Amino acid sequence: MHDLVFEPDLVHYSRTMSGDRILDEVEQFWSSSAATFDEEPDHGLTDPVVRAAWRRHLESWLPPQPGRVADLGCGTGSLSLLAVELGATVIGVDLSPAMIDVANVKSAAAGHDHARFEVGDASDPAIDPESLDVVMARHLIWTLPDPTGALDRWIRLLKPGGRAIFIEGVWGPEIPADDPRRNTIPWSGGVPANTLLAEVDARFEQATLLPLSNEDDLWGKRVNDERYAIVADRPVC
Ligand SMILES: C[S@@+](CC[C@H](N)C(=O)[O-])C[C@H]1O[C@@H](n2cnc3c(N)ncnc32)[C@H](O)[C@@H]1O
Repeated sequence: MHDLVFEPDLVHYSRTMSGDRILDEVEQFWSSSAATFDEEPDHGLTDPVVRAAWRRHLESWLPPQPGRVADLGCGTGSLSLLAVELGATVIGVDLSPAMIDVANVKSAAAGHDHARFEVGDASDPAIDPESLDVVMARHLIWTLPDPTGALDRWIRLLKPGGRAIFIEGVWGPEIPADDPRRNTIPWSGGVPANTLLAEVDARFEQATLLPLSNEDDLWGKRVNDERYAIVADRPVC
């Protein structure tokens, strides 16, 4: 994550924007970083050690037959394509056309025909209810204007018993409760594991929290912030 680089910009747009204008600003922010996004080891997954670490974890988080997976806020599609290698059929959704362009180029270069990438709002994607085996989102939830509303919508996209995989972290200082930015991007700067775990627990079952901060191989470096995954299932009935 480019925490030190993008945090000031996020603070800027979350302070000044409202409604759809937030999404416009978010889209422009990420589109402007699309060309260089994969330079970070955990974004591009080109370092074999980093790639192997993500592959190992993803394989353990996905069901044995991954089925139909949505990668929400897929960015340049690195994790989507790893899921395809593990047997999934993936639909990747991202607000940024520039990110989707990179994902399509990478998918074509890999020769995959089990990945489809679309521009859209991942917090309310155009995906049929109860049509997914897995909903996956890496480093997306913290930047949504309505993250808990997105969780409500995502669980309805899953088949009963379907799996949610959320990979998140804390990239900057917590925004105080009385700060107006909490009304626009409430988790701007990142969401602590226990905060997201409580929201996941309220909707899903068998939620498991996996701390990831100490796994240098995942990030290609030592990190000092909080990073984690939460894996949970939609109740069967
Ligand atoms: C930190 S990047 C993570 C990308 C990818 N998930 C990964 O882990 O490499 C955040 C991504 O979320 C996308 N994004 C932010 N808000 C979004 C929204 N409302 N709908 C769809 N994509 C969104 C951005 O365009 C960006 O590509």
